[in-house]
Amino acid sequence: MNNPTRPTAITLLAPHSARRTRLAERVGCCGGGVVIVPTAPERMRNRDNDHPYRFDSYFHYLTGFTEPGAVLVMLVGESTRSILFCLPKNLERETWDGFRHGPEAACTLVGVDEAYSIDEFDQRLPELLGNQNALWYALAEDKEFDDRIFAGLNTVRANARSGVRAPADIRNVHTLLDEMRLFKDAHELDIMRRSAAINTGAHRRAMRATRPGMFEYEIEAELLHEFRRHGSQSVAYNSIVASGPNACVLHYNANSRQMQEGELLLIDAGCELDGYASDITRTFPIGGRFSGGAKAVYELVLASQDAAIAACQPNASFSAPHDAAVKVLVQGMLDLGLLQGSLDSVLESGSFRRFYMHRTSHWLGLDVHDAGEYKVNNLWRPLRPGMVLTIEPGCYIRAADDVPEAFWNVGVRIEDNILITNDGHENLTAAVPSKVAEIEALMAEAREHG
Ligand code: GLY
Ligand code: MN
Ligand code: MN
Repeated sequence: MNNPTRPTAITLLAPHSARRTRLAERVGCCGGGVVIVPTAPERMRNRDNDHPYRFDSYFHYLTGFTEPGAVLVMLVGESTRSILFCLPKNLERETWDGFRHGPEAACTLVGVDEAYSIDEFDQRLPELLGNQNALWYALAEDKEFDDRIFAGLNTVRANARSGVRAPADIRNVHTLLDEMRLFKDAHELDIMRRSAAINTGAHRRAMRATRPGMFEYEIEAELLHEFRRHGSQSVAYNSIVASGPNACVLHYNANSRQMQEGELLLIDAGCELDGYASDITRTFPIGGRFSGGAKAVYELVLASQDAAIAACQPNASFSAPHDAAVKVLVQGMLDLGLLQGSLDSVLESGSFRRFYMHRTSHWLGLDVHDAGEYKVNNLWRPLRPGMVLTIEPGCYIRAADDVPEAFWNVGVRIEDNILITNDGHENLTAAVPSKVAEIEALMAEAREHG
């Protein structure tokens, strides 16, 4: 069954309409045209039962509207006309599926010029496409919607003799929106801070709850409990709760193993709040105290994360944090006897990738791996104020004959969410301890007080 509750009311319209204005300026600079941004389709999970609905991030960025069955159209010429198509009021369907605003209320809510039932979209489309220089639409995201667009275009072309032109170009509106989404506005940062705060509480709760003998899913349940009780609508991605050898499986999410004393627990989990993701990883000892090879690897990954976060400065290259993390990791891998050779030879050969096989950062925002190019003109782009990225170095050591046994099955990742500011950076997720002594103190305190 769909969730029958009324969607969260949108309380801040101004940011979404300001984004539409900025998009219109950019489209205008490229010659104008008609912009079409549909929200995501509903997806069936199994018989009569949908996956939980998640709107399209681009559509949400421009409207804040959370209902399925909606499309934003913007006609950008000398002035701009914004039109929303949405589900019509239907008391019978609302009895089954929940509240719908309907075009009249949605028009006011979203602040568009006009709104119509989605049932009128196909019929109105040719008129909207006619005599526009370009169609700004992201092709090949949703085949069914593409087919509706093609049908509309064909209708316009068929009417060419009545003097109506079809758009000469189809251009990807996501290219413009990706660049806008990369720089978070104040409204987005407010939500991202709150998403991060819920998530830091969840990771602290997980650290406090963990005991040898528990199952990974019990800790996943602690995370979910904390997410939901603070109003997060969903996880931002499937939680990874990976103990012992599972920590060396990057996308492990069965979360089904019983945790043992003497092992590490790696948790990579994030909530989504009002569309915005947070993405934290912590690794800590199931028994409450770091020791041996696990402690050495943990200290190494933490030092590499410190170096990477220090490199998060305005105008630094996107690659600077990764390069800083890798340098520290490789020197540490050499010192621990995991690798042989010199720093330069290992960096050159890339042999460290056996233990560190992913990159250190991705953009974060509406999507956990958020929109935005990483390179411009084939060069890593500079970090700028308003960008948010993760810093998540790791080290994953599987059992192998040529590796000292003290390091077998040690998998460590530490991940924080970093906002680039005018004079440096802000760690949005610093409230979860990452220093050895702070983690041990939190876990000891939890054990003392039940
Ligand atoms: N949890 C997804 C990531 O860290 O990229
Ligand atoms: Mn991440
Ligand atoms: Mn993560």
